[in-house]
Amino acid sequence: MNKITVKRFDGQKKYESSYELSDEVIRGKTLLATLQYIKQNLDPTLNFVAHCRSAICGSCAVRVNGWAVLACDTMVETLFQSYETTTLTLEPLANFPVISDLVVDWDQALEHLARIHPTIVPYKEHSPKSGSVQSQKELNVVLSAWDCILCGICASQCTRYSQDKADYLEPFAFAHAWRTTMDSRNADPLVSCKAAVENGLWRCLHCQICMHVCPKGINVAEYIVDLRRLILSKKSPSDIHPEIRRRKPAEKKE
Ligand code: FES
Repeated sequence: MNKITVKRFDGQKKYESSYELSDEVIRGKTLLATLQYIKQNLDPTLNFVAHCRSAICGSCAVRVNGWAVLACDTMVETLFQSYETTTLTLEPLANFPVISDLVVDWDQALEHLARIHPTIVPYKEHSPKSGSVQSQKELNVVLSAWDCILCGICASQCTRYSQDKADYLEPFAFAHAWRTTMDSRNADPLVSCKAAVENGLWRCLHCQICMHVCPKGINVAEYIVDLRRLILSKKSPSDIHPEIRRRKPAEKKE
């Protein structure tokens, strides 16, 4: 028999619940579908979050045997096989306040994201009619960072953030600082870069766990290196990524 143990919290006390599941029950199920089975058939009090069920919204991230995964994108049989065990332990993401069971509070993380100003400052000369045009090459520079679904997995596994949260941010915040810095439509690209420095850019330990655990394959560690190069060189983003150039409304689209 397979067993899933969930480390739980009811708002006041911590405790554990274990659920026994036959091979037949878990066959072909994702971890999320297994949690839904438990809630519908074994324990209606178990709390977890999920929305898209398609690895898009990022809401279903949980830790399995200490490692964060997207529950909707992870087959539960594969977990039992890869850990060579009949018991899995589920916990909420680390480094987030826990609301209940596997549900965590994102308020603080979103406030941290806001600190790096992840927005694009439009060029003054761009009118609503001309828009803020971007070539395919320029878009390609930042496209990988747009894949971030804010699942919180990198924050849960980050070595530096786990060690000290007082002077550092969740890795995804640095990914978004890089994105806005390198976006060709940004008239003031160093705003996010400087905010990243003020919020711990140089404190990254470069363990690179963030890029290994990211379900979208985003290389946050490389982005952090990019931002550091930019600061040290005192150059502009287009010196680091030649594809980026300042675009004026009068120019023709490529
Ligand atoms: S439910 Fe949306 S990412 Fe898993």
